[in-house]
Amino acid sequence: MSSRIAQIRLVSSHPEVYEPCDDSFALVDALLADRTNLLQHQPALCLELGCGSGYVITSLALIVGQEAQYIATDINPHAVKVTHETLEAHGVHAELINTNIASGLEERLKGLVDVIVVNPPYVPTPEDEVGREGIASAWAGGENGRTVIDKMLPVADTLLSKKGWLYMVTLTENNPAQICLQMREKGYASRILVQRLTEEENLQIIKFWRDSDLQVAEKENKTVPAKDMESLLSDFHIFPFLRGSHDDSS
Ligand SMILES: C[S@@+](CC[C@H](N)C(=O)[O-])C[C@H]1O[C@@H](n2cnc3c(N)ncnc32)[C@H](O)[C@@H]1O
Repeated sequence: MSSRIAQIRLVSSHPEVYEPCDDSFALVDALLADRTNLLQHQPALCLELGCGSGYVITSLALIVGQEAQYIATDINPHAVKVTHETLEAHGVHAELINTNIASGLEERLKGLVDVIVVNPPYVPTPEDEVGREGIASAWAGGENGRTVIDKMLPVADTLLSKKGWLYMVTLTENNPAQICLQMREKGYASRILVQRLTEEENLQIIKFWRDSDLQVAEKENKTVPAKDMESLLSDFHIFPFLRGSHDDSS
């Protein structure tokens, strides 16, 4: 089954805006791999945090269709302008907001977003490089590349609807197993949809979705004791999300 995604030649650019790269392509590949599920999911509202050039939100809009509503944010004002041009060049629409993660949108979007996509700044850097103006905000992720990721995850949890899905790019240095464990304690199951080894990076695209069994366990306070965390993280057998998979079962 073919599906249209954003065409690189129609993606707008600016010297201060992140150009689509291996991580952006891997995220769109994961969306394509999950296309059948996405169409069955019938999302009403989709959100991208950190839209950069607009390559991902445009591709998502082309994959899912204009029956859904789209919103994209970026902390970099140039990115918002470039994303507008990229969307327009492909004949699709999204509401664009220049903000930090989803600041100012929490009340309006709480519990309403059916799909969130994020390719965050994940590169381990000195902490003072995080949140700098311009292109540096595209990759500077602070300690273990987790500073922005760890701020985005609770926001995603707040905004996602009961049936909401989150697709997120991680790097091995971000400790994706620990991210999955943290999300599991909030009631989310997870699976790696795409793993990609580039010359410089080992990337994962992880899909998170609410799992009612995990949510019951959380309500009954059956969380994983911190002392067991290390041994759990080393036990790959209990983490199906750690196996590379294009399985469509979720
Ligand atoms: C790795 S780039 C990804 C861009 C685009 N989504 C893609 O995949 O090509 C990360 C993007 O997140 C934006 N960003 C960084 N920190 C942010 C924050 N706190 N809130 C919103 N956007 C942020 C950056 O400006 C940049 O455009």
